[in-house]
Parts: sequence; C-alpha cells; structure tokens
Amino acid sequence: MDKILNNSLYKTWESHWINEKKMTLPGRILTKARLKALKKIILSLSIQNAIDVGCGLGHLLQIFKDADIHYLGIDVSQKAVMTCKEKGLNAKIGKLEEEKSSYDLVASEGMLEHFLNFEPYVKDLIRISSLYILLMQPNHDSFMGRTLVYLARTVRGDKIVFEYNYRMKDYIEIFEKNGCVCIKNEPVFFDTSRLLLFKKNN
Ligand SMILES: C[S@@+](CC[C@H](N)C(=O)[O-])C[C@H]1O[C@@H](n2cnc3c(N)ncnc32)[C@H](O)[C@@H]1O
Repeated sequence: MDKILNNSLYKTWESHWINEKKMTLPGRILTKARLKALKKIILSLSIQNAIDVGCGLGHLLQIFKDADIHYLGIDVSQKAVMTCKEKGLNAKIGKLEEEKSSYDLVASEGMLEHFLNFEPYVKDLIRISSLYILLMQPNHDSFMGRTLVYLARTVRGDKIVFEYNYRMKDYIEIFEKNGCVCIKNEPVFFDTSRLLLFKKNN
C-alpha cells in the first residue's frame, strides 16, 4: 500500500517540477533564510562528504560545492536532476530507499512531511549516514508556520504538493527511537521552519 501511495507521490513531484513557475517573493525570502541557516550549520561541522536527499533544484548542493565538500544530490524527479546538472551540480536520479553508499552528513529539506508514514524514510536516512542527519522541516505548530500553509493552500489550492502537519516532536521521537540524538532544534524565519540536527549513537 505504502509503495503504491509513494509511486503516485513521485509522479506528483515530477509534474510539480515540470510545471514549476518562478518563485514568488515570499518564497524567495523563505528559501534564502532556510539556506542561510543550513549553511551556518554545515560550515560548523567537521565532515568530508555529504548527500542531499530530495535535492530538488539544487540550492543545498550549491552550498556543499562552494564549501568544497564532496557531495551528491539525489532526487526521484528527472526534471529536478536535469536542472541541477544544467547548473553544474553533481546530482543523479535516485530513491533514498535504494541508495547504497554512506555519507558523513545526510541532509534533507522538505521531503519527509509529504509521506503518510515517514518512519521508513527516517530509517533509510539513518542507514546511509555515518555521523549526522540534517533536516529542514516546516513548522505547522508555530503561528507563522500555520498561517503560511493556510495562505499557500488558499492561493495555490491543489497545485501545492500536500504536506502532513507533523510536529517537530514527531520527527525527534522517531529519530531517537531509531538510535539518534537531536543535537540542534533551531527556529528559522519566525519559526516557519525548524532546522533539526541529529547525531547517530554509533
Ligand atoms: C519539497 S521538495 C524539496 C526540494 C529541495 N530539497 C528544496 O528544499 O528546495 C522534495 C523533493 O524530494 C524528492 N523526493 C521525494 N521522495 C524521494 C525519495 N524517496 N528519494 C529521493 N528524492 C525524493 C522530490 O522529488 C522533491 O524534489
């Protein structure tokens, strides 16, 4: 059942990126704030290599590249990966659940909240990490986070890819249940998103 649901979600992502329009001003401001927070954390970690799972158009890959970190981006969407490649970024079509290599840092921004059951994907993120897992997740619990989702749904209707309103507590519980400890939980841009950093209990 999960597999059927997820295959349909993967098709939705492909058409999302094919029909993607220029980002709105609020979208650009938010993305800038998220990337600034991610960059600060990434530069503070002592890591040799990293993967961005669900790399989309490659914003995070550019940070890895600029920081001279050996990196790879994977995404189920052909269109997203093609865009990354056109930008000169190292990306390949791939599913998290099929990734075999392991990386000091496994990053994922805005992917888990789209799965009805996200635990199997948490297990996979942990499986391919040797040290850290870094997430950027929308915070539906904050006033601004909730308002943004409401506005996005009102303005863009079913054009947005549906996201479940998991709480930060839900992510933290599932990671800790699977052998990680949360070492950072930081609000980003009026708490519309949260940056979560986990370390593996090796
Ligand atoms: C909300 S987008 C985020 C894109 C990018 N990280 C960003 O923040 O701009 C989620 C991305 O995850 C990708 N994705 C979803 N499930 C995946 C999976 N199992 N393995 C790899 N990529 C996946 C989708 O194709 C989509 O590009």
